[in-house]
Amino acid sequence: MELPRPRGPVSELLCRWLTSSSLDSAPMQAALTGALRDCAVVDDDDLQVALWVLCELHYQGFDAVDPAWEWRPETLAVRARIEEVFECELRRATHDAVRAVLSAPGSLADRLFALVGNADSAPLARHLQRRGGPDQLCEFLVHRSVYQLKEADPHTWVIPRLTGRAKVALAEIQYDEYGSGRATQLHSQLFADTMKVCGLVADYGAYVDMVPGLTLASSNAMSLFGLHRRLRGAAIGHLAALEASSSLPNRRYAAAVRRLGYGEQAARYFDEHVAADAVHEQIAVREVCCVAAAAEPALVPDIAFGAAACLHLDAAVAGALLTAWSEGRSSLLAPARSASRAGA
Ligand SMILES: [Fe+2]
Ligand SMILES: [Fe+2]
Repeated sequence: MELPRPRGPVSELLCRWLTSSSLDSAPMQAALTGALRDCAVVDDDDLQVALWVLCELHYQGFDAVDPAWEWRPETLAVRARIEEVFECELRRATHDAVRAVLSAPGSLADRLFALVGNADSAPLARHLQRRGGPDQLCEFLVHRSVYQLKEADPHTWVIPRLTGRAKVALAEIQYDEYGSGRATQLHSQLFADTMKVCGLVADYGAYVDMVPGLTLASSNAMSLFGLHRRLRGAAIGHLAALEASSSLPNRRYAAAVRRLGYGEQAARYFDEHVAADAVHEQIAVREVCCVAAAAEPALVPDIAFGAAACLHLDAAVAGALLTAWSEGRSSLLAPARSASRAGA
């Protein structure tokens, strides 16, 4: 994969640094100090691209970057500074939702399902089902591709950090996400198939240059939770909210794909999630989160935090798409159709 286009001083310097042989992180740290003083990380294009690049060193890496950068203390120190502010912002944004979960009566499962039930994740799915045109569907797929082309990978980091029944339950979900033994059924592959039918390029990372920082933030939050053992509660809470908020919207996305005439193959990814996630949500909430919380009660606040962060970022991204479309403009940094031509 190629490095993305820089979007400011931090990502510019980072891309240059990672393709050099210099271990001197002083210029990088200085640029970071300026950037972190001036902005909110969560929707800052420059910092989210930089964080995405640093996280991707742990996934597929980049053609031009020596794999040794993944574990160099200098790189980890830069990532840690962005992550620290990003995590603080997410905790601030979800403070009330987390407090509501922690103070509500009932079982942890009931409280997590209530959190998801109270979050209105439907407007984007409803819009695409009823009115969205092909360009808007393509834009939606482009946004989603940042995560969906590595679907399930960020939560897989957590498997070695759990024990017993919670570990088995998470492995069961991930087995489905990874195709239940068939490469053609990998959920990331099903999503790639949908993209191709819709005329988009399905190469890993192909559209990172097209999406705003907020979309990258929603993927980066999963990497943040997955890559840190101390945040394992947030990682499983995030997974639980992701699964529990998936089934109904996916039914609507499948309907949108069919209404726009893309056919059964394009709808397959969404159909699969209507059925699978109705099961996954039960396993993720009851067998992963609740069982892990019973073994380690100290995880509960972060389970609520991870779930709330998932819903918060999903709603923010959905809101950004709907706002752009209501104003008659693209939600991407370049229109999806030209994006598809550019990548083809
Ligand atoms: Fe999936
Ligand atoms: Fe799932």
